[in-house]
Amino acid sequence: MPSLVLLSVLAVVALSLAVAFYRVTLHPLARIPGPGIAAVTSFWQAHHVRNGHMRELAKTLHKTYGPVVRVGPNEVWFDSKEAVDVIYETNKERYRFQRRSLGPVYSIANVKKYEAVVDAVLDRFVGKLKTFNGKVEVDLAEWMHILALETLGSVVLDWSPGQIEAGSDEGMLSGTCTTWKACSVLGLFSPIVMVGGLVSPLKYLFPVLAGLVPLLGPGGDGHWRVIGEIISRRLREGSPQGRRPEGDICDDIFYMRLKKSEFTRADHVGMLFQNFTAGHDTIGAVMTAALALSCTDSRTQSEIKKELIDATNPTLFDNTKLLKYTQACIKESQRLYPVISMSLMRAVPWTGLNLHGYYFPPGTTVGCNPTAYHHNTAVFGENAGSFNPDRWLGSPEAHVNLDHAALTWGGANRRCPGQHLAQLICSKAFARLMKDFDIRVERPDDRDIPFYFLATMTGIIGDFAKAKMA
Ligand code: HEM
Repeated sequence: MPSLVLLSVLAVVALSLAVAFYRVTLHPLARIPGPGIAAVTSFWQAHHVRNGHMRELAKTLHKTYGPVVRVGPNEVWFDSKEAVDVIYETNKERYRFQRRSLGPVYSIANVKKYEAVVDAVLDRFVGKLKTFNGKVEVDLAEWMHILALETLGSVVLDWSPGQIEAGSDEGMLSGTCTTWKACSVLGLFSPIVMVGGLVSPLKYLFPVLAGLVPLLGPGGDGHWRVIGEIISRRLREGSPQGRRPEGDICDDIFYMRLKKSEFTRADHVGMLFQNFTAGHDTIGAVMTAALALSCTDSRTQSEIKKELIDATNPTLFDNTKLLKYTQACIKESQRLYPVISMSLMRAVPWTGLNLHGYYFPPGTTVGCNPTAYHHNTAVFGENAGSFNPDRWLGSPEAHVNLDHAALTWGGANRRCPGQHLAQLICSKAFARLMKDFDIRVERPDDRDIPFYFLATMTGIIGDFAKAKMA
């Protein structure tokens, strides 16, 4: 019996060595530069994600290895414009049907219908912050997350989670960060994820055993249950009637379904959930970064205030677009701290891919990490690593080129469908908060903030004092 165990162990070791040898020497990606251990196993990347080092890795990896880096046995990252143009080619757009159907719901014209709804949430939010009188230090990421959930709740389901009044997101953001940590790691091991997904006890046990999630789960999931219940109730009630005049996105999708019968009830439920899953942490992350970066430097803060004071009705969405410096600050924050700190992955199609002098066989996972790419000095200039809103203030052509170059809203073939809704919320909220408050922030060093796939600046303390000049 002991010899059988020994033989099995030896067989596993021999097989692992053979696989490692193949991956390093004979594998089609063997010539691609990168850390040696990354070529052998995904545990290398998993180790960095688990420890929240993705931002640091993104900033340093291409400096060490160049524009093409093998980060896993079958995964390659790029940081060049050439790669972005090829990998995210628009004519390979996915989900064409869903996108075309939903286009009108998420168009600028339609989301502008909800401008007053967003204003009403902002009134409550600003009112609550004013009660603190600049004397209470708040967790900036948590408060921006509250703002994101309250605005989405109102626009999508005419619903308030009551977090503004409660003054807490009840652990929802920290639960989300833990969930992202687990998903970012497990997503690197597709067979494990599949097994975990199929065998339900494992689904819960594995992330706990791997130390990714506490025994009692990530926490903060109460609101997800409520969102699910509201969606079920709304769809049970059927066609929209008798609520506020502009309705909500749930109603918009009802009307759309009347015209497109292919769009099912399940699609409707999925889309409503997606507004929250794709929007709550991203909008929170963008707002946190924009306020943190703009308010660290008093000159930047006063430039924005000056622009807002001089403008007519600066929180009206159409007018926010005319606030050149304010918009530059938001865009620059999104460039320097994009919401994704891992690769926007795509699978190489059956035709294979030739890029940077290498051949990538079908099925290879390729992609650009927005954080890494936005730090590329060849694309974004010598000071690509610094917060410099002025880079957006050149000629109109230069501004458009920067906008097109950035991966802020994803690759062209899967660009974020919620972009206009997110811009409506962020532009209005940023202008309103900067106008109404003098904001002080204290930021930890970047290396002390954990960044997973979804990159949120956490651990920032802020206080909002009523603006001296408004
Ligand atoms: C400021 C907030 C937001 C940012 C920065 C953002 C950014 C992104 C990015 C970078 C991607 C990845 C695209 C890719 O793989 O190339 C994405 C995908 C997506 N976003 Fe957003 N997003 C935001 C808000 C929203 C909102 C409010 C919605 C609500 C509808 C939404 C819906 C989606 C969906 C459904 C996808 C998946 C698209 C696909 O795979 O084809 N996002 N977003």
